[in-house]
Amino acid sequence: MSNETTPPAQRPYQPRPPAGNPFDQQKGITGVKKILAVSSGKGGVGKSTIAANLAVALSRRVKTGLLDADIYGPSQPRMFGALNQRPQITSEQKLIPITRHGVKLMSIGFVVDEDSAVVWRGPMLFKAIDQFLRDVAWGELDVLVVDLPPGTGDVQLSLVQKVPVDGVIVIATPQNIALSDVKKSVDMFQRIGTPILGAVENMSYLLDEASGQKMALYPKGDLLAYLDAKKIPMLSEMPFQPKIALAAETGVPYIESYPQASESAVFTDLADQILRGLKLEHV
Ligand SMILES: Nc1ncnc2c1ncn2[C@@H]1O[C@H](COP(=O)(O)OP(=O)(O)OP(=O)(O)O)[C@@H](O)[C@H]1O
Ligand SMILES: [Mg+2]
Repeated sequence: MSNETTPPAQRPYQPRPPAGNPFDQQKGITGVKKILAVSSGKGGVGKSTIAANLAVALSRRVKTGLLDADIYGPSQPRMFGALNQRPQITSEQKLIPITRHGVKLMSIGFVVDEDSAVVWRGPMLFKAIDQFLRDVAWGELDVLVVDLPPGTGDVQLSLVQKVPVDGVIVIATPQNIALSDVKKSVDMFQRIGTPILGAVENMSYLLDEASGQKMALYPKGDLLAYLDAKKIPMLSEMPFQPKIALAAETGVPYIESYPQASESAVFTDLADQILRGLKLEHV
């Protein structure tokens, strides 16, 4: 008899499907009409900046909340000048959002120190996202904007499994190095069936104020062609504007600091497009 063994048949890797349908847990938030996610594949492309200014622009038209779902790196407390705020708790044990510039805000940054690391994964994270959605006294909101962390990980999945997300906008920068991350983000939301309202190209160009010329900060890649092929509208092209970054540092969103600036008009126009996309224009 030979001692030779035959290798096991090569089968493609098949992950085991989870028990039950995770989307069965989906439930709306009482009092909240629409949920809008602000997403990106890549980090640092301006999601939080755009979410903050968009939320302020939306709040001038409809009742707006902003959930900073970036558990690992919350930015909204700083961007809204609300660092060190601690939310009060109602008699029903719900956190009362902090209101700034007309927006009801909630962030993990209000309950965890800015410099402490959050080391949650899997079930802890799912629980935390659920609490930040439901155990908050949002009151009546027309739209809750959710600022996501970068990527297509646990936080994104928890959100779409816990609540019906009515629309997502994808924030991108122009260069091809960022494009494969955009594709992953689009792919994830399309597979889940979340409507993609459109994309925003951030840091699209730099305006030379003396000559009025637009200069490319990053080389233009194939983002537009990709979006065209996917029939995803480009909602806005936001220039790189150093004062946008400065406003984020000082804690007064750009649209409030520079209401007359052309970039503020871009944020307002974006808000109007979102309201149409969410069918909230007649609220
Ligand atoms: N259009 C812009 N002009 C100038 N600065 C900008 C612009 N958009 C974003 N920034 C700056 O770029 C930096 C990164 O932006 P932001 O934190 O919004 O990105 P993000 O995608 O939310 O990052 P993360 O993936 O870490 O959550 C910030 O300092 C912000 O002020
Ligand atoms: Mg962010």
